[in-house]
Amino acid sequence: MKRIGLLTSGGDAPGMNAAIRAVVRSGIYFGMEVFGIERGYAGLMDDNVIPMEMRSVSNIVQCGGTRLRTARCLEMMTKEGQEKAVKTLEKHGIEGLVVIGGDGSFRGAKTLSEDYGVPTIGIPGTIDNDLEYTDYTLGFDTAVNTCLDIINKLRDTMTSHERVSVVEVMGRRCGDIALYSGIASGAEIIVVPEVAFDMQDIVDRINRSRERGKHSNIIVVAEGVMGADEFAKQLQANTTHSVRPTCIGHVQRGGSPTMADRMLAAQFGNKAVRLLNEGIGNRAVGIRDNKIIDMDIIEAVSMKKTFNYELYETLQMISM
Ligand code: F6P
Repeated sequence: MKRIGLLTSGGDAPGMNAAIRAVVRSGIYFGMEVFGIERGYAGLMDDNVIPMEMRSVSNIVQCGGTRLRTARCLEMMTKEGQEKAVKTLEKHGIEGLVVIGGDGSFRGAKTLSEDYGVPTIGIPGTIDNDLEYTDYTLGFDTAVNTCLDIINKLRDTMTSHERVSVVEVMGRRCGDIALYSGIASGAEIIVVPEVAFDMQDIVDRINRSRERGKHSNIIVVAEGVMGADEFAKQLQANTTHSVRPTCIGHVQRGGSPTMADRMLAAQFGNKAVRLLNEGIGNRAVGIRDNKIIDMDIIEAVSMKKTFNYELYETLQMISM
């Protein structure tokens, strides 16, 4: 394979730039020409294709966001949109594609592979950590660390005022950001889409913790359950403790990637290009049990994300 393309798609995630760098440099190492496609699938349809050189990716390993920019592109779900995308690839003689993105982006990659025979490799780039086939997605670690930084600060002021903090983190269907930031910040309670909650039970747990001498409580709520304002309102109606809501929001999606995300980016990007160089397409790269893996992209997108109930119970056992 002599010409490959690369795009980032869906919500951005810290580490995408480091992955772009790894793909471009690995491609050049194998003697390939690498083309960046700006604005994800939307840019692929609009022919926003730029050649990427060694120096195009200088000084970006530490940067958040994505230099190729990104878009959520519903048109990629239509036949017309897909044909436009394939036309652009043909125009530039691009024989293989690397797609960095989440669930929706992988579905586009699957279509290109399965229906149009374009060898495509998926790199899981989303803060949500909602893909079952990989233990971690790119950006998750940085996003959780951003949440931790904010929750640490909230704990300071909540303790001073003996308050309850309701912190909303991202995750519409997947509670991993809430689960990991809850455990790592010492939050007393997490509320996730995967587990039904009972407000009275939460009130009882807050009361018991106060009887044991606690001066504040942190409740991490995944956005898919309820917004922080609404949750705080409902809780306040059931408790005399003072409740304050905070929505962390898009801050979670920005920032310099952590070491863990930069390492994943380097390895995912390199693995994707190694596969294309061997003429292998239609794979998703990931990490499982600390090893970089690849698997059929169609199988990868069809796996249903499971929730780690053991970790959820761990939080309940150690956060009192
Ligand atoms: O998929 C990543 C994600 O950050 C989700 O956690 C969140 O629900 C969503 O994107 C927000 O999307 P947008 O930036 O389009 O508002």
